Amino acid sequence: MSKILWKPGTMIYPLPAVMVSCGSAPEEYNIFTVSWTGTICTDPPMCYISVRPERHSYGIIRKNGEYAINLTTKKLAFATDWCGVKSGREHDKFREMGLTPVSASKINAPLIKESPVNIECIVKDIRELGTHHMFISEVVAVNAEEELFDEKTGAFRLYEAEPICYSHGKYFETGGLIGKFGFSVERKPGRKRKK
Ligand SMILES: Cc1cc2nc3c(=O)[nH]c(=O)nc-3n(C[C@H](O)[C@H](O)[C@H](O)COP(=O)(O)O)c2cc1C
Repeated sequence: MSKILWKPGTMIYPLPAVMVSCGSAPEEYNIFTVSWTGTICTDPPMCYISVRPERHSYGIIRKNGEYAINLTTKKLAFATDWCGVKSGREHDKFREMGLTPVSASKINAPLIKESPVNIECIVKDIRELGTHHMFISEVVAVNAEEELFDEKTGAFRLYEAEPICYSHGKYFETGGLIGKFGFSVERKPGRKRKK
């Protein structure tokens, strides 16, 4: 393979494109799309979102110290993009996208009912990095769609909700299963483990 040396930039793709919901009362409720997000610790469960201060949502999250990450699906792709190009300063995004705000269990911010997984977050630290400020947050509750749990095994089958991802300005469906955690070292029946 021969490589082209590119200028330094944000090149970790694909990424999720989540819908972040915020606001402590219905008149303040808002949704915006975030790709600069991820897990940063397992125990305590922690994640981050990085937000430009000029976003309408920035002030809301900074003031309330909480928000919810709502995972997105093929069905939610249009709303995911729209909430990422329109501002809550001019739009009621829940109403205009036909999304339903529902109460969270541990935070005042609303959850998006139509999303299969809602992650309730409380801000622990804010790192003002540059263009984006990183909200380092603790996950205080996770709401997962009941229908996605396998009745027999209890396994959570997020893939059935058709999650989407974001890469170089485009949205993609996630592809088929190609292995499971540890499959590279799994012993095949009748075969000895390689040293
Ligand atoms: C796919 C996608 C990913 C985005 N990721 C981020 C992000 O990580 N951080 C951010 O500040 N804005 C991000 N944006 C832009 C905001 O979602 C957008 O500016 C939005 O209109 C802000 O809404 P608000 O003014 O109601 O808060 C993204 C937009 C899209 C479409």
